[in-house]
Amino acid sequence: MNKDKLDIKNPELKILVTGGAGFIGSNFIHFIFKLNDFKGKIINVDKLTYSGNLENLKEIDDKYSQTRYFFEKVDICYYSALKSIFNKYRPEIIIHFAAESHVDRSIFGPSEFIQTNIIGTFNLLDLARKYWTKSKKDVLFHHVSTDEVYGELGDTGYFYETTPYNPRSPYSASKASSDHLVKAYYHTYNIPITISNCSNNYGPYQFPEKLIPLMINNILEEKELPVYGDGQNIRDWLYVEDHCKGIWEIIKCGTRGETYNIGGENEWKNIDLVNLLCEKAAKKLNKTKDYYKKLITFVKDREGHDKRYALNCDKIKNELNWEKKVDFDKGLEKTIQWYLDNKDWLQRIVSGDYRDYYNKMYKNR
Ligand code: NAD
Ligand code: DAU
Repeated sequence: MNKDKLDIKNPELKILVTGGAGFIGSNFIHFIFKLNDFKGKIINVDKLTYSGNLENLKEIDDKYSQTRYFFEKVDICYYSALKSIFNKYRPEIIIHFAAESHVDRSIFGPSEFIQTNIIGTFNLLDLARKYWTKSKKDVLFHHVSTDEVYGELGDTGYFYETTPYNPRSPYSASKASSDHLVKAYYHTYNIPITISNCSNNYGPYQFPEKLIPLMINNILEEKELPVYGDGQNIRDWLYVEDHCKGIWEIIKCGTRGETYNIGGENEWKNIDLVNLLCEKAAKKLNKTKDYYKKLITFVKDREGHDKRYALNCDKIKNELNWEKKVDFDKGLEKTIQWYLDNKDWLQRIVSGDYRDYYNKMYKNR
């Protein structure tokens, strides 16, 4: 283990976060600024695609802008723009969140996924290699990836870090490809890397195209709750802050060159989860228990819809003492409450271009 190899208390430590305006990236930036053991600087590089939203970071910007927090609107697919960022900041750590992240979008338009997830990751790795080969400092490239690279499971079994890759959607294939590039840069050029493969996240600031915030938004609008296929597909859910904590433990103490699974050990059939959301929302909104369930509508299935994901997380638990802190019941309630308290945030998204996407997306289902 490379315990405390990086001097994380050093106020001069510069961490380049890509995709920091998205769901997990913005939660990570909130998380890291709350830590007592981090005194350094964050450079957030984000293209601000449809899912990037600087509103997510307003408090951070108000408090730390130009002292400990720096935002750069840059597309990671543009090598020369990224190179200027490396020249300007010379980061010691890169935490790579930026990606096209939605499976349905990858089915209808895979091209952006190939560009950002593969070419963008390559650009970052190659610049890191060039900068870090010359520097004598301790450095790290942490790549944020997904459990979807392993493929799909039947009714039993788990994905381990050693499970062979078998991605099945354009999204997961592009993430698998980026994981391979990251590993190749470790083995070929000795660039210190770590990778985390995480299960489905939920929590504040998640773009409402993903299952949980989409259902919360539709409940608020009393619109159909579209459940794909028969609703029997299974996902493993983890509160986003627990994911952020896992990433931070890996950065601090993870073995370089290694992959760590991070999961919730919390499997739910989609239909059961949607029913639970309906009940919890009804309680908060003073409706009868089953009031929102009448909105549930079974729609055409997702093409190539993976049946089940489930992660074995013994490695991160045993090596790094990581464990999830937020149980699902409380996490879901906090999440529903967050969307109720931030209706304006939600409204600004659903009243914009996203509404057209949603209508087009669900027209044929
Ligand atoms: P998101 O879609 O909410 O955010 C992605 C961010 O990346 C946005 O801010 C976007 O503007 C930015 N971005 C996209 N293309 C870019 C480009 N070319 N250049 C610079 N910035 C760009 O995604 P998320 O859910 O926060 O996911 C973050 C990472 O975590 C992704 O790598 C994803 O694969 C991974 N992941 C997500 C989950 C999940 O449940 N959401 C689970 C496991 C892993
Ligand atoms: O497993 C990790 C992955 O989780 C991440 O790598 C991805 O970035 C993230 O988007 C997520 O992928 P999923 O496809 O699992 O998430 P999504 O929220 O799109 O869907 C969750 C499940 O719910 C899935 O089985 C499809 C189903 N679904 C989804 C939507 C949007 C529905 O039944 N109805 C819906 O409207």
